[in-house]
Amino acid sequence: MIVTTKQLFEVAYGKFAVGAYNINNMEQTLGLFRGNIDSQAPFIIQISKGARSYADKRMLEAMIKAADEIFPEAIFAVHLDHGDLPTALDCIESGFYSSVMIDASSQPLEENIRITRQVVEAAHARGISVEAELGQLGGVEEHVQVEEKNAHLTDPDEAAIFVKESGCDSLAVAIGTSHGAYKFTGAQGLRLDVAAEIQKRLPGFPLVMHGSSSVPQEEVARINAAGGDLKGAKGVDEDEFAKAVPLGVTKVNIDTDGRLVWTRVHREFFRDHPEKFDLRDPGKVFIAEYAKFIAHKNLKLQSAGTLEMVRKHVA
Ligand code: G3H
Ligand code: 13P
Ligand code: ZN
Repeated sequence: MIVTTKQLFEVAYGKFAVGAYNINNMEQTLGLFRGNIDSQAPFIIQISKGARSYADKRMLEAMIKAADEIFPEAIFAVHLDHGDLPTALDCIESGFYSSVMIDASSQPLEENIRITRQVVEAAHARGISVEAELGQLGGVEEHVQVEEKNAHLTDPDEAAIFVKESGCDSLAVAIGTSHGAYKFTGAQGLRLDVAAEIQKRLPGFPLVMHGSSSVPQEEVARINAAGGDLKGAKGVDEDEFAKAVPLGVTKVNIDTDGRLVWTRVHREFFRDHPEKFDLRDPGKVFIAEYAKFIAHKNLKLQSAGTLEMVRKHVA
């Protein structure tokens, strides 16, 4: 059942975070639904601009519709990840997405508000939720390369102004994370103090944490042992999610960790079975491993076991 992110956040706020997972293909889609059903969690399917052009947006839509039929228990939102204005408007027009992100965070505050406001008006007219972003994460974000030194954290006072003036339903905040597999060079971590300051100014308002992959060291070691070269990869301590939830972090974006599962499964599979060439053989392993991975993340996000509570709310 497709619901809006706003509906999910009404139940989740302060109690758990909803996992937001990117999909690009059929194997990820099946693993995602299985993992969420296995752990009885609501979830958010994220589709990036890159995914829409890789798999064709119609293919992604058709896969999600099919998965919704195969897994009738599932409760999820379909969300555009890091949308620009034309893509956000296209998704709103399509009538399929229940939530869109407009990411104008590279623009000055006033321009970010103006663009976000435009998306909010179009989306709310059709009952669709809007996530916006303020502040800049480090790392590679779609086509924008933000140098670590230029990344800046969300200003709590600006966040309060931004939410009031833009009318968005949730806000992606920069609190020390970055996209990709190389988030930290030393002992840095989440800036929960910044999240706490934002929550003081925006009590009850859902915050979103991008760049939340934990880049498990065991996964990196297995990839490297099977021929990979991911030296120095480091992510967010997933035990920190439980501390972020009471501070209003209600959506947690995870993509890189899923890519690492894919890479580990395929590297190990072909190393161990050099004679094989049926794509379905590693595909089956990946779907099962991805489902396990999702169920594990949902435990850390505390969304595992909340599906029936969410169902009552959205019924
Ligand atoms: O934040 C970006 C997501 O990980 C999606 O990545 O743009 O390569 O699909 P992508
Ligand atoms: P990661 O690269 O940490 O998985 O972040 C994904 C993300 O923020 C998608 O919007
Ligand atoms: Zn992101």
